[in-house]
Amino acid sequence: MSEATKSPVTMEKIESLCKRRGFVFPGSEIYGGLANSWDYGPYGAQLKKNIKDHWWKFFVERRDDMVGLDAAIIMNPKTWEASGHVANFTDPLTECGECHERFRADQVDMSLPCPHCGKGKLVTPKTFNLMLKTFLGPTEETADIAYLRPETAQAIFVDFPSILNTSRKKLPFGVAQIGKAFRNEITPGNFIFRTREFEQMEIEYFFDPKKSDWNERFDHLKEAMEAWMKAVGISSEKTHAVEIPDGERAHYSKRTIDFEFEYPFGQKELFGLAYRGDYDLSQHEKMSGREMRYLDPETNEKVLPHVIEPSLGVDRALLAILLSVYREETVKEGDERVVLKFPKEIAPVKVAVFPLLKNKPELVAKAREIYDSLKQEWQCEWDDNGNVGKRYRRQDEIGTPYCVTVDFDSLEDDAVTVRDRDTMEQKRVKINELKTYLTENLK
Ligand code: GAP
Repeated sequence: MSEATKSPVTMEKIESLCKRRGFVFPGSEIYGGLANSWDYGPYGAQLKKNIKDHWWKFFVERRDDMVGLDAAIIMNPKTWEASGHVANFTDPLTECGECHERFRADQVDMSLPCPHCGKGKLVTPKTFNLMLKTFLGPTEETADIAYLRPETAQAIFVDFPSILNTSRKKLPFGVAQIGKAFRNEITPGNFIFRTREFEQMEIEYFFDPKKSDWNERFDHLKEAMEAWMKAVGISSEKTHAVEIPDGERAHYSKRTIDFEFEYPFGQKELFGLAYRGDYDLSQHEKMSGREMRYLDPETNEKVLPHVIEPSLGVDRALLAILLSVYREETVKEGDERVVLKFPKEIAPVKVAVFPLLKNKPELVAKAREIYDSLKQEWQCEWDDNGNVGKRYRRQDEIGTPYCVTVDFDSLEDDAVTVRDRDTMEQKRVKINELKTYLTENLK
């Protein structure tokens, strides 16, 4: 029987596993990299896709009160004036007078010497806008300035009239979107936790405040997010709902909860849940001159809906999942394994297929036939390298739930050995029952 070791999971272990196995590695590496830019390799890309697909299924496809959106990253710059981002999406920036290292003034003690060189004095903070600017067209003039969106949410508000007209949804209902967002962060870092380019999964849940109790809607979305986090393997013990007190919330928000996760570098935000009132729709109504209201078919009244917004970073969710499912186990004395115990639905590879020996054509042919057939149903991996024990360890490290081995008995009994990642138990399964077995067990 295996035993979990007590040693804590560290960022070094996660980063090293991610790099070694191609989940995530530094971006532009052949050019010396680009600070805080990360690329998702083959397993990472699949894992990220599985997380997004799971979220989309959970919140959009399986519910009757949600629809999806996939809007452009670059929006009319008036969007960001209306939302308040051009004026207010700022962090206070300070710099050391000696070494010129930059800091967010709200994250350092301004009365102490520079935390980097220990000598210089920190200069008076300036406000620094986090929006990433670009220019549209061949001239770089003020009129051509555009922004890469700092959140996906605003497109949901801007498109609200079109969504109403085309989906014929009745309040209450939510609009979900997954996509890239960009922020010129002063202090990116901690691997994929804070980067300048990242992905968000956001929902704006619209309701009529006269007909719905916002507290109930808020609690419902909180519970739904908690259920989703559990389903994708984020440890509930390491997650904490922190109420943001009056005075620290945005002025238009009646209630905000930050869900914080115990990362190895401290307890920090994983996602936010905020009641934003009708702030965004009313801002866009003023700025665009277009009506953003919902015509209530029962009362014939026009309503400016309120919203509750769960907003989650995909990269942060992926990091929290890795930190939650990483285990080091002693299988038996002298035999250790690292295993990622992903929920099966999000594991990047579902099944690995091995011929016992790679130089036995009859074994390889049979294993190949099984692999080709399973690959039509699930993300599968072929491995014929080294002994089977080593192949199990490689699959454990990427979190593959099942390994299927074709051995000499398979040629006689038309059965294979199926090994379970978590229990490490091995079972003989008839080849003609293998798909049914995996379908049931991969649920
Ligand atoms: N629409 C609301 C909004 O964008 P936010 O708290 O600024 O709220 C939401 O961002 C989520 O996006 C965060 O909880 C986090 O998961 C993720 N996020 C924000 N900035 C990020 C960054 N620089 N790198 C990675 N993820 C980030």
